Amino acid sequence: MAGVKRLGLIGHPVGHSQSPRLFADRFERLGRHDVTYETFDLPDISNFPAWSQAHPDVVGLNVTVPHKSAVLPYLHGLGTEAEQIGAVNTLVRTPEGWVGHNTDAWGFRRSIQPFLKNTHERALVLGTGGSAAAIIWALRDVGIDVVAVSRSGRSSEGRLHAGAPVVGYDELNPALIQHHLLVVHCTPVGMSPSTEDMVTFPTSHLGAGHLVVDLVYSPPQTRLLREAQAQGAVVLNGQDMLRLQADKAWEIWVEAGV
Ligand SMILES: NC(=O)c1ccc[n+]([C@@H]2O[C@H](COP(=O)([O-])OP(=O)(O)OC[C@H]3O[C@@H](n4cnc5c(N)ncnc54)[C@H](OP(=O)(O)O)[C@@H]3O)[C@@H](O)[C@H]2O)c1
Repeated sequence: MAGVKRLGLIGHPVGHSQSPRLFADRFERLGRHDVTYETFDLPDISNFPAWSQAHPDVVGLNVTVPHKSAVLPYLHGLGTEAEQIGAVNTLVRTPEGWVGHNTDAWGFRRSIQPFLKNTHERALVLGTGGSAAAIIWALRDVGIDVVAVSRSGRSSEGRLHAGAPVVGYDELNPALIQHHLLVVHCTPVGMSPSTEDMVTFPTSHLGAGHLVVDLVYSPPQTRLLREAQAQGAVVLNGQDMLRLQADKAWEIWVEAGV
């Protein structure tokens, strides 16, 4: 259809994504009937250049698992944050090629701002994937010390993820947890439909001084958040971050002429 600006999401799988509904609501609210948002299942990122050529009218993309870092070699340029994080979730097509941005870090930071206290000087980040890299970067950027927690933490001493030291789940003793009053869960464990799954985090050591954030937004309350709340912790799910990272992506696309 002439004059329509196509946006979308690449990843694999993409069927479960909430982004098409989020953006459809946004376009409706803004009266932007000239913009569409679709999902594009792309199992193999090495097909991205061919896919891009075959879809010349797609002007902006979100990027999700497993391509947030893997897409980097196919981009023409990166925003400063994306370059430092080493992962993107938003792309803009330019005449020279695709330019990548990371709005996850921005969305995360904005989402936790109302809950952050000056006691939250140190954080435990659970997981060492692409979203953990963005969250670690965002936390260190505001001066919060981070320790990452990985299933394979103990296997290689001196290991870093996004500049943060990495420990194993078996090292999460009461003293360490009480020393880190911010806990951010950045793994897919506990997502629908496996809602009773939880990483092996000893929630009994959490208390009223803790802020526990789960990037998972479906279900709205994961088992981790339920157990943390029962210990008196303040809890936050990933819904606000999801909305805010989409706000920022939309802002980037509009600035690029969408
Ligand atoms: N709210 C939002 O806006 C937003 C934005 C981005 C992502 N997310 C959510 O954040 C979650 C993580 O995203 P991601 O892209 O970082 O995912 P990912 O790359 O697939 O996994 C992140 C890390 O989780 C750990 N992990 C994976 N499976 C595990 C298991 N069975 N048990 C324990 N740890 C496991 C792994 O770290 P180790 O091997 O080191 O243990 C892995 O590197 C997803 O649920 C995603 O939907 C939400």
